[in-house]
Amino acid sequence: MLTAVLAALVIPLSVVFVQPGHPIAVLVSLLVAVVFVADIVIRFNTAYQTQGRTITDRRVVARRYSTTWLWVDVAAALPVGIVLRIAGIPGESLIHLLSFVVLLKLLRVNRTLGRVAGPGVNPAILRLFLLGFWVMMAAHLIACGWMLILGNPEDLMPIARYIRAFYWTITTLTTIGYGDITPSGSAQTVFVILVEILGAGIYGLVIGSIASLVANIDVAKAQHREKVDRVNAFLRYKAIPAELQGKVNGYYGYLWETRRGYDEQVVLEDLPEPLKVSVSLHINKEMIERVPIFEQASEELIKDIIMNLTPVVFCPGDSVVTVGEVGFDMYFISKGRVDVVSADESTVYATLNAGDFFGEIALLLSTPRTATIRTREYCDLYRLDKQTFERVVGRYPKFAGKMKDLAEKRREELQRSMNGEE
Ligand code: CMP
Repeated sequence: MLTAVLAALVIPLSVVFVQPGHPIAVLVSLLVAVVFVADIVIRFNTAYQTQGRTITDRRVVARRYSTTWLWVDVAAALPVGIVLRIAGIPGESLIHLLSFVVLLKLLRVNRTLGRVAGPGVNPAILRLFLLGFWVMMAAHLIACGWMLILGNPEDLMPIARYIRAFYWTITTLTTIGYGDITPSGSAQTVFVILVEILGAGIYGLVIGSIASLVANIDVAKAQHREKVDRVNAFLRYKAIPAELQGKVNGYYGYLWETRRGYDEQVVLEDLPEPLKVSVSLHINKEMIERVPIFEQASEELIKDIIMNLTPVVFCPGDSVVTVGEVGFDMYFISKGRVDVVSADESTVYATLNAGDFFGEIALLLSTPRTATIRTREYCDLYRLDKQTFERVVGRYPKFAGKMKDLAEKRREELQRSMNGEE
């Protein structure tokens, strides 16, 4: 691809500035030919993917290549100028024209760059880059054409000539058209008319594309901002107190900072089961590694739990569970800290961190909640519902035993603290 781009830059320049038989022109076409021939050989030995399958059968690869790009590649690889010269065929302009076959290779730039960049690169930025590339490439070719057709009336050095021609191209393409360089003679006028028509198209394309691409560069951010704007408009309409509005905005700010506004569950919902398991395992790996009771748990158990976790976010000072209530679920802390507090919230019995869990006593021992859990800061929690919990406890007795031990210990501790208070 790089060679094709370099060839597309150098060959038109060499057409303007050096004669086809010039050593530099010969060297350039030879170098280009070597790389392009190597490219053809490599392409015959490159597998391709179709409908998710990788095709490695050489015959299939060869058949596909020879019915698609092979002829373009062969035409581009032929050092036309040299061949014609050796064959003794005269005609400068024919040689000039044929050497432009190299430009056909550029048709693959978009696809190749997309593949090289991979999914890690923002597609909008890639498209913006490609748009810039094509506009610049078109400007380069037009500038070279203009130099060829205009000749060198001011008797300038090559670099100054190119800069002047490029300047004329850009002012014409962008429809600025100062009119300081004007055509004389029919050939030049026709050329200018064509460039002006092309320029109007390119200008419209560039303005339109940039507007939509810039808006799409950060899709997640644009969507999040739109959502927050809508929520804020609603809050204002309902005359929600400023403090509460601030809290809602803080919550959205936290969602943006920690997950770029994406809802994990919505993203996962679309995936087929095995892919969902892999992505979920990856997302929750860190949290699971921090939970001591999962230390020797089997992969099956962890998978069973992970696939049934619901991510929930709590704001600072929220009560996640309240003492005395009936418990329907338990929680794992992925991020943030919570306090285990008394009913009147005056006594803090314990503070739990990322990797801890709570809410298991009510489920295991069938009692009302033994304490209130109050968040200290924004908390990312994962909720496990009672049904799944009971199924897991029934299926994995060792795990259930460990959890029961901890629940008993916690309850005793709590009892002791309460007695101490009394
Ligand atoms: P549950 O009773 O369902 O709801 C309150 C939770 O607080 C309880 O489950 C435990 O998970 C947790 N908890 C209670 N006492 C302690 C303690 N002493 N240390 C840590 N966590 C506790």
